[in-house]
Amino acid sequence: MDSILVTGNGPLNGEIPIAGAKNACLTLMPATLLSEEPLTLTNAPRLSDIRTMTTLLQSLGAEVTGMQEGQVLAMSSHNIPHQRAEYDIVRKMRASILVLGPLLARFGYAEVSLPGGCAIGARPVDLHLKAMEALGAEMDLRDGYVHAKAPAGGLRGGVIEFPFVSVGATENALLAAVLAKGTTVIKNAAREPEIVDLAQCLQKMGAQIEGEGTSTITIQGVDRLGGATHRVVTDRIELGTYMLAPAFCGGEVTCLGGKIDLLAAFCEKLDAAGISVEETEKGLKVARKNGRISAVDVTTEPFPGFPTDLQAQMMALLCTAEGTSVLEEKIFENRFMHAPELMRMGAQIDVSGGTATVTGVEKLRGAPVMATDLRASVSLILAGLAAEGETRVSRVYHLDRGYEHVVRKLRNVGATIERIKGE
Ligand code: UD1
Repeated sequence: MDSILVTGNGPLNGEIPIAGAKNACLTLMPATLLSEEPLTLTNAPRLSDIRTMTTLLQSLGAEVTGMQEGQVLAMSSHNIPHQRAEYDIVRKMRASILVLGPLLARFGYAEVSLPGGCAIGARPVDLHLKAMEALGAEMDLRDGYVHAKAPAGGLRGGVIEFPFVSVGATENALLAAVLAKGTTVIKNAAREPEIVDLAQCLQKMGAQIEGEGTSTITIQGVDRLGGATHRVVTDRIELGTYMLAPAFCGGEVTCLGGKIDLLAAFCEKLDAAGISVEETEKGLKVARKNGRISAVDVTTEPFPGFPTDLQAQMMALLCTAEGTSVLEEKIFENRFMHAPELMRMGAQIDVSGGTATVTGVEKLRGAPVMATDLRASVSLILAGLAAEGETRVSRVYHLDRGYEHVVRKLRNVGATIERIKGE
């Protein structure tokens, strides 16, 4: 297994290009199943999760071709011979459940294995299933699979009211409702930019959707959808991650394509910690203001709140802040697995339930550490950049799920980082 070797670094300076959003791409790709006509995505990130979704769609009979090194994904689902998403593929990635809505909507039937995914809490799919039921589907859980059947004549519009916000369940509901007969109202919908991106792509395909980006989305079902070409929105999590690089090391880095709108709550916390963020024509220019950064308290929330997917990276930063920071994780249980690894580097962190209290130390020290999930792995790399000596991060296959060319991007702004093959 590969590992990444990072050496404590001086200031970072330059530009980092930000890719298209993994999480948007993973919900846009299943939209191909809704139409016989081609769907083309541009600005797709080159990541192992995208390859997993490609394999899943191909296993159903879709044609998926990557062009320009995979940045353009040309998809066609004119012939989908069966509607069964197998365990062997689905277990690799939780977002596989997003084929459920479109298969059910277009074919009236779907069998999808229950997913696995990142080890961050229980992460059930009950809300996805309830949403399908609200559209008239009968759901049966057998042999580790969800067997979903639409009523004769297909799904029909209904009211889907989520008890709490779920990004994936909102996406699945949207993907199903666009072809359901009549009107669907999704209440307590997720408002993430990835939902807006999905709605905009579906609109280009001919869907009638209103209210995306708010907590009530109304969909008027149509009989069929056509093809479209759509550019995947900027990855706000990759953006936030690289914005932290100069916060850790000093210097000034512009994250190309970044917009404050994508990360307003995060930018506010950076400001409070002593990091300046300026929106320019090119993107977001980030620099550390004078001296040591200050402690800040962070609570993760659905969009527009502070994203859970930036919690690990922010915790790593606060390990060397002046004062004590309290981080509350409200989205996922068991999402502090990076804390013991950071403690191996000298961090002082006390975890109790969903709360982590971080007492800032002057400096972290390099150490061998282990990536436990996607965002945890990048937080350890960032911590390593600001630590004394060498940090070796093992199990970096997690990283490949969500960050393309991480070594190249950080090297280009002056970081000492390399990927070590094998072992
Ligand atoms: C998506 C993102 C992930 C991000 C998360 C929250 C993708 C591919 N992944 O994950 O990176 O961290 O949003 O911003 O887009 N829940 C249930 N039942 C369900 C569905 C969810 O109890 O049926 C719970 C989850 O366990 C979690 C909470 O709801 O505690 C929110 O999860 P959700 O928003 O659904 O996350 P994902 O869509 O899986």
